[in-house]
Amino acid sequence: MTTPAPSDALVFFGATGDLAYKKIFPSLQAMVKHGRLDVPVIGVAKAGWNLDQLKARARDSVENHGGIDPPSFEKLCGLLRYVDGDYNDASTFQELRKQLNSAQRPAHYLAIPPVMFGPVVEQLKKAGCTSGGRVIIEKPFGRDLASALKLNAILLETFDERSIFRIDHYLGKAPVHNMVFFRFANSFLEPIWDRDNVESLQITMAEDFGVQGRGAIYEEMGAIRDVVQNHLFQVLLNLTMEPPVRTDSESIRDEKVQVLRAIQSLDAQSVVRGQFRGYREEKGVAADSHVETFAAVKLEIDSWRWQGVPFYIRAGKHLPVTSTEIVVRLRKPPTMYKGYDLKSNYFRFQISPEIVFAVGMMAITPGTEKTGACVETVASRHPAPDEMDAYERLLGDAMRGDPTLFAREDSVEEAWRIVDPVLKADLPVYEYEPGTWGPKEVDQLVCPPGGWQNPTMNGG
Ligand code: BG6
Repeated sequence: MTTPAPSDALVFFGATGDLAYKKIFPSLQAMVKHGRLDVPVIGVAKAGWNLDQLKARARDSVENHGGIDPPSFEKLCGLLRYVDGDYNDASTFQELRKQLNSAQRPAHYLAIPPVMFGPVVEQLKKAGCTSGGRVIIEKPFGRDLASALKLNAILLETFDERSIFRIDHYLGKAPVHNMVFFRFANSFLEPIWDRDNVESLQITMAEDFGVQGRGAIYEEMGAIRDVVQNHLFQVLLNLTMEPPVRTDSESIRDEKVQVLRAIQSLDAQSVVRGQFRGYREEKGVAADSHVETFAAVKLEIDSWRWQGVPFYIRAGKHLPVTSTEIVVRLRKPPTMYKGYDLKSNYFRFQISPEIVFAVGMMAITPGTEKTGACVETVASRHPAPDEMDAYERLLGDAMRGDPTLFAREDSVEEAWRIVDPVLKADLPVYEYEPGTWGPKEVDQLVCPPGGWQNPTMNGG
């Protein structure tokens, strides 16, 4: 396979917006620092700003998100250009074409609301900015299967699938993609990674904060659209896919979509939705909102490896801690220790805030003869100080044309197919107190055998 040519300019729409401020500028500075960015970077927005104002914003952004690295920031400023104008106005894109100068293969990053993808892509094409180029888009890729298909049709009018990079930033997190390596590079794990040995698998994504002023946007989503259909499904796929025959992007993505194909669409019995008390008073939220800020989901993967093993996913705002963690419980052994309260062995992976791998096992409690207790061996580390952040990794990969860590359209559609029925069903939304583990109905309706295991902030 030929190596794709790298992008020779990066254009980012939404340059004055929130995502640029929180994630993109710090990533651009880090890319420069690590020698991964040396081409013009053109911000586009409609703010009535000039280049100096954009640079001031970039400085503020890096100072508040990770810190400024003066030589890298200087260099970034040297690469930075700015185009101010309306996304519906052809002259904005003529100006962009001018700024692109001799660039032949620009990467266009659309850090803007999805409703604007269509008009922007059309204008880019008309202005001659797309041939040889790439487009990078942010989730959500639609809001259900039908709208995802429409969105994709719009993108495909201008770009082919190999030039479309769909960012799901969870895929760029080191512990998430390292999971695949971890599974297939350790001989002790893979032989027991199946229905004969695994009793259940649970994924928890807990956040101890609410919607942080994003009420109006969140009203359009809810937890299932916001994080389950994308981030947490991707985590699940890395934990359950078959070994790819090769390590190229398509072999890996082929295996992932196979898992999704083996999952039945969800029904009312497999989902519990919750809403934290106080959500309806948030700015931009309807007084009678039925949008879920918590979801617990049970699903099955109907494959040779996994048939009969229940998988659980739960995600919520205003839970007791901020942490994303996976627990894989193993079946209990046959035992002659009748009087003991034997617990399942388990593997525990914490993705954040710490990176943890732990094994839970039974051992006799020291000083007693008759009591067994679960003990853990823990391998844990803090993210390295200069570890590549998800956006830095993903922007760099997209510009190099490596699609491995991006969502492919067939996976996006399968993921929507799985959640679509429950999104449309208007299932009950149970209220829960902020700072708790969601509505009490979860423990009765969607609960792993042995119960949910709650993550702790310090990795445990
Ligand atoms: C985003 C969601 O995609 O991911 C947010 O829209 C969520 O609601 C965020 O808070 C979590 O990302 P991270 O990297 O902080 O776990």
